[in-house]
Amino acid sequence: MEIRTRDIATTDRIESSFSDMPYLRAANGERLAVPPVWLMRQAGRYLPEYNEIRRRHDFLAVCNTPELACEVTLQPIRRFGFDAAILFSDILVPLVPMGANLRFDKGHGPQIDNPVRTAAEVDKLRRIQPREDLPQVLEAIRLIRSKLPAQTALLGFAGAPFTLAAYWVEGGKPQPFANLMRLVYGDRPTFKSLMKKLADMVANYLTAMIESGANAIQLFDTWAGVLSESQFREINLPFVREIFDRLSSKQVPMTYFVHGGMHLLAAIKETGCSVVSLDWRTPFDEARSMMGPSISLQGNLDPTVLLGGEEMIRGEVRRVVDEGNQRGGYIFNLGHGILPTTPIDSVHVMLDEIRNGRSQK
Ligand code: CP3
Repeated sequence: MEIRTRDIATTDRIESSFSDMPYLRAANGERLAVPPVWLMRQAGRYLPEYNEIRRRHDFLAVCNTPELACEVTLQPIRRFGFDAAILFSDILVPLVPMGANLRFDKGHGPQIDNPVRTAAEVDKLRRIQPREDLPQVLEAIRLIRSKLPAQTALLGFAGAPFTLAAYWVEGGKPQPFANLMRLVYGDRPTFKSLMKKLADMVANYLTAMIESGANAIQLFDTWAGVLSESQFREINLPFVREIFDRLSSKQVPMTYFVHGGMHLLAAIKETGCSVVSLDWRTPFDEARSMMGPSISLQGNLDPTVLLGGEEMIRGEVRRVVDEGNQRGGYIFNLGHGILPTTPIDSVHVMLDEIRNGRSQK
């Protein structure tokens, strides 16, 4: 069944099933006078209440304890009333039951002590069962959904295979990708076998998240922007498409995010996603004309704008809303995660401009 509201001339039945969640209405193609808004990394270090919890618990403990993950997920919803909550976790969490020794060291970002670089290492990776291997994440989703306001959508998420492979093959922050690309060009069968295992894990994991109460999902392919369009089509597109294919029967919005993916729009369209999350360098009109009316857009305020003064923030937010919300199918977000140094007042100014700003129609 087709669920995009604009394609079926907004029948009452479909309309009512989305009417209480602005996020779902916009993701399904409707135009709302005030677009729904949430922010990537909306739970995190710019919030004093998050830092308070982090003083007492390490990052992975927060991810792996349903009550703490739930509390941290709800913090930005209480403070700002965002239209979507995103599960508090990390894209690297499901790599642990597959066999990764993952650490988050202060100031260094993620580190994986046992990188996978050989066929033998890829062969050894465990095929996980989300319900048995990641029950704490699914429990967090159930708990969060039970506590969220009815109109707030809950988003599940995962890293895309290429981005997960980048961290695991490099053993941490991927740049400059020497080990990963050595696998891509020097041992294609092993690279493909790794991508296949990761794609299978991601599809199962996101399915379990939806079945546990997530109303939509987002797939983060942060590092895919380093690939040219032809590389992307050859080594990434088939795996991303397989994930969205396997999820499509669940009929929830599926968002795909590539950081620095402007040159990949034509290929991104072929992934089968229903929403594309744009970074700040990608103009809406280009994305719209490439994606057509059946794919919704999310984005794309430069996160550094929130470090500026009030007038600057209002002007930039207004420009983004006016461009993004010209057509149906628009969700306000940043072009990448909110920075830990962002003043909370800037988020209030941003929201005031979106919700009460001058050219609201
Ligand atoms: O968006 C949210 O509020 C939900 C939670 C979330 C986190 N990470 C929490 C987090 C989500 C959706 C992610 C996704 C993620 N994680 C991505 C893809 C999106 C993107 O930002 O490009 C990537 C590449 C990662 C890997 C990762 N996790 C890195 C590189 C780092 C260190 C860099 C940094 O920002 O500190 C993390 C740590 C991390 N993930 C933190 C949070 C809140 C900071 C941990 C802390 O409290 O010290």
